[in-house]
Parts: sequence; structure tokens; C-alpha cells
Amino acid sequence: MTTFKIAVMPGDGIGTEVVPEGLKVLSRAIEVTGTDATLQTEQFEASARRWHETGETLTDDELERLRDFDAIFFGACGDPSVPSGVLERGIILKLRFGLEHGVNLRPSKLYPGVASPLANPGDIDFLVVREGTEGSYTGQGGTLREGTPQEMATEVSVNTRYGVERTVRYAFERAQARDKKLAYLHKTNVMVHAGHLWRRTVESIAPEFPDVEVTYQHTDAAMIYMVAKPEDYDVIVTDNLFGDLVTDLAAVVTGGIGLAASGNINVEGTAPSLFEPIHGSAPDIAGQGKADPTASILSGALMAEHLGLTRVAQAIQAAVEADLASRGDAPRTTSEVGDAIVSRLA
Ligand code: IPM
Ligand code: MG
Repeated sequence: MTTFKIAVMPGDGIGTEVVPEGLKVLSRAIEVTGTDATLQTEQFEASARRWHETGETLTDDELERLRDFDAIFFGACGDPSVPSGVLERGIILKLRFGLEHGVNLRPSKLYPGVASPLANPGDIDFLVVREGTEGSYTGQGGTLREGTPQEMATEVSVNTRYGVERTVRYAFERAQARDKKLAYLHKTNVMVHAGHLWRRTVESIAPEFPDVEVTYQHTDAAMIYMVAKPEDYDVIVTDNLFGDLVTDLAAVVTGGIGLAASGNINVEGTAPSLFEPIHGSAPDIAGQGKADPTASILSGALMAEHLGLTRVAQAIQAAVEADLASRGDAPRTTSEVGDAIVSRLA
């Protein structure tokens, strides 16, 4: 029997509602597939409540302790009662940077039965490989003369050959295992320093994957293609900020942010990877039991896959697809959706 140590961090808002459903489906999928594994979970609180009470977000000690876990199952980050950036930088970004989550993996698939806002969506099934530890997210920069009419601010985009290469190589590997098409997105026409480092990196790795067809798109143009011809994409690779924007659009064209799962992957296997819905804490609907837990449940499938529990991942995926195919318009509570998906597990 293999025991997997899972750190559970529901976070804020609907994170606390969807995470139990994700775990419920995951545990049940382990049972029904007869998998010889057990989950040993430990809860970590990283939330607005804790920050108000103690001033802490996620401590350095906790970050160190998390290294002993096999994976982290995360809910959502952010709360309107806390100044913008405090929880984001102190929790989710601290985890991504501290645990070297070089790849932020975000699949986008339009499942049968799910409505897309596009009139003719076609058969959408692609994977965004977003860089996770660099770009404009590193906090490099500062302000001068703050609060005066002459104030200035910089937010420097950091791009290392090392970080870009690990993301790009991972994307090539995924493309090689899928439909062998890789689109890399940037703004090489404007961001010439970072953009050309990305271009040189892609061009230097491409010969290792001769079967993979590589295309470059300016990220603004990609916004058009993603709406006009999303079925053309297979794997997309891009930097941290572009990836953030692209994956919200990708989520909405495939039926909504309530279904979009993600993995923050430590590619080298030196620290646990983290799995979370792409959506945020949704304070407007939090506490009402109406959040869709599907993104969390699918994040559980990504986590199972990452832990080598392929049959468990497939079972969750199939159960979700069965539920999506027969979803009507009748509203269901968060736990009703979880229960419905559990009942589909075979
Ligand atoms: C996401 C979110 C985060 C990001 C926030 C909460 C820091 O938008 O996971 O897409 O910008 O990466
Ligand atoms: Mg985002």
C-alpha cells in the first residue's frame, strides 16, 4: 500500500467549499478502482482570516514543512478585505516560487454537453504550458516619489534561459505525446529582450523534437485565433503573465472558469507540485454552496496523474465527463455536484 501525503490548503472564499468535493471524489476514485493507495491529508490554513488575526500568510516554516509532502491540493487565494497582493504574494506566489513550480499546466477541453459562448466552437482540446516562476510575477521593481504627481513604478519582467528552457522543453515533450503541434506566444515585436530570449530558446530546443510543428504567434493575435479557431491549438507555451491572461480566455471558451483545472508542476521533482482550480475565491458567491466544484475535482485528477495514479485520474475524468454530458440547467449545490460525480465513478 502506498501512502501519499497530501497537504490540503483550501484558502479563501469558495476554495473552502470546492476542495472537500475534490478530495471526496479523489478518495472514492481510489476505492472504486481498487488502487492500493491511501491519502494521508493534513490541513494548512492560509487565508484572510488568519492574516487578520495574526498578520501571517504562509510562514517560512510551513513552506519548509510542505517539502515533505507528495503534493499540495489548493483551493483559492484572495479576499476583498485584505489589500490586493498580500495574500497572492504571501501564499500562492510564495508556493509557486518557493517550490520551483516552473510549469503551470492548464488543460482546456470543451466537453460534450458543455455550452461554449462561441457560436461554432469546434472540437477544442489544448494544453497551455505557462511559465510559473518568472516574467512579471517576480516582484522585481519598485516605486519612487509614491503618491506625488511625479511618482513612478517599475515591474520588471525576469526571464532566465534556465527557466524558459525548462518550460519550453516540457511543452515540447507534451506536444510530442499529443498532436505534435506547439504554438509559442509572446510579443517579440515589442518586448524584444524577453521575446527574443524566448525565441532563441524555442529554436534551440526544436531540433530535439523534429516531429513537433512549431508556430509563433503574437499574444494579441492569439486572442483572435483562440476565439475564431480554437480547435487549431494543441499545446501552447508562453510566459507567466501572458499565460495568466490566455488561460482565462481558454477557460471561458471551453465552458467557463468553473471547469478549469491546473497543476503547478515542479518539473525536476525536487518539491511537491500543487494542484488548484484556475478560478479565484469568488467572494460574490462564497458561503452559499453554489460554487461549481468541477475545477477542483479535475485538479484532483491532474494530481492523481502526477502521482502516477493513472487509473484513478482516468476514472475521475470519465465521471466528470459523464456528469457534464447530462447536466441540465437545474441549479445544484456544490456538494450535489460532488455527489453526482461520485455516483458516476465506476
Ligand atoms: C491564476 C491567478 C493567480 C495568477 C493570482 C491569484 C496570483 O490569477 O492562478 O491564474 O495571477 O497567477
Ligand atoms: Mg489567473
